[in-house]
Amino acid sequence: MRVVFLAPAYPPEMIQYTRGLAEVGAEVYGVGDQPQSSLPAQVKQHLHDYLQVPRIMDEDDVIARVTAWLRGRNIDRVLANWEVLVQLAARLRERFGVPGMTPDVVRGFRDKELMKERLRTAGLRVPRSRRASTEAAVRAAVEEIGYPIILKPIAGAGSADTYCIRDAAGLEETLPKLRSVPEVSCEEYVEGEEFTFDTVCIAGKPAYENICQYLPKPIEARSLEWVSPIVITVRDMYQARLQPGIELGRKVLTALQMGDGFTHMEWFLTPRGEAIFGEIGCRPGGAHLVDQMNYTSDIDLFREWARVVCWNKFEAPVERKYNTAIIFKRAQGHGRITRIEGLGDWLREARQWAVEERLLRPGTQRRNWKQTLLSDGHLMVRHPDWDEAKRLSFAAATGIRLYAG
Ligand SMILES: Nc1ncnc2c1ncn2[C@@H]1O[C@H](COP(=O)(O)OP(=O)(O)OP(=O)(O)O)[C@@H](O)[C@H]1O
Ligand SMILES: [Mg+2]
Repeated sequence: MRVVFLAPAYPPEMIQYTRGLAEVGAEVYGVGDQPQSSLPAQVKQHLHDYLQVPRIMDEDDVIARVTAWLRGRNIDRVLANWEVLVQLAARLRERFGVPGMTPDVVRGFRDKELMKERLRTAGLRVPRSRRASTEAAVRAAVEEIGYPIILKPIAGAGSADTYCIRDAAGLEETLPKLRSVPEVSCEEYVEGEEFTFDTVCIAGKPAYENICQYLPKPIEARSLEWVSPIVITVRDMYQARLQPGIELGRKVLTALQMGDGFTHMEWFLTPRGEAIFGEIGCRPGGAHLVDQMNYTSDIDLFREWARVVCWNKFEAPVERKYNTAIIFKRAQGHGRITRIEGLGDWLREARQWAVEERLLRPGTQRRNWKQTLLSDGHLMVRHPDWDEAKRLSFAAATGIRLYAG
């Protein structure tokens, strides 16, 4: 089993997928823009070969270089788990006649308007929306859809440049900020709680499923710096209240012709109990979501994903033992972290339920909270009881404080 895996060491969790592939018996051919000599040892030991390319996002250039590099060797899979490379992987598959999702199928997971058009055609509930590449087109969409309205890039990630607009004044304020975005999606604002639906699929059917709740919703977590965003896996994900989201999620996978691998969907649960589609990617959720799912069932999804994409088998137990929460912290002030307060008390309270503590240490430069959900580090806590998991996460959100200056 020869596998080309794009960006085997970046973002850092890709190192785990590379390991997973090697552990299920694949020969891993890595392609990335880091020099081979600077790859971490944990990834080097699992690579059969590596091609350094000057620009990993330059699709035509990478295709030409990989073609020359692989001449004379047969390849069985071309894979990527990083959002910005899933289309390149599909083009390489097409080029080499390797099985897997085609570029057209992958476009349905990358282009937010196309994905909604395809789902609407399949009769699924998606927000009303229009694509717009000029100010005039945005105004026309607002006329049609009304306020409140969401404006966001067609191929966005990380809630960057996503705006909720409530009136005409808000629209005038926001339009100049979107000038650098070539094409935007204009969407009906959906009221409700926000969840994920995550899977590892074999031929579009989930071999593994997960639901997380966002507290608060990403758009709020993204706009208020004082918030400590929390994401919790829901142990009891098959409860009646969440059933509409699971049904929607499974239908979305079929409608978009999902193949093998991870998916990460976001959806809304309205006050009336209806599930409405948000967006989906054909790759795992980022920001340690896969670690959270692993802690939820004490499994290794990095390896199970590899087993699925190589051998179409999923062998981990799917019993859910815990609700696993991640709490992202943001320091008050600018520059370097100076001190952390309340951590000792919280760790004593959380006892064995605290599973990770990765706050940035005093002396470290703050991260840009607008650019990365990872912010200034995180805590992870799990508990079999939902209310207790939530209580411990809110205690970390409010009781632990980081200062910078
Ligand atoms: N139609 C909508 N109604 C209500 N809220 C929305 C809508 N569209 C987006 N949002 C809010 O904005 C957030 C970001 O939107 P979306 O997930 O589409 O963009 P993104 O840039 O891919 O974000 P991320 O990478 O963080 O998932 C959503 O998680 C949600 O909180
Ligand atoms: Mg999103």
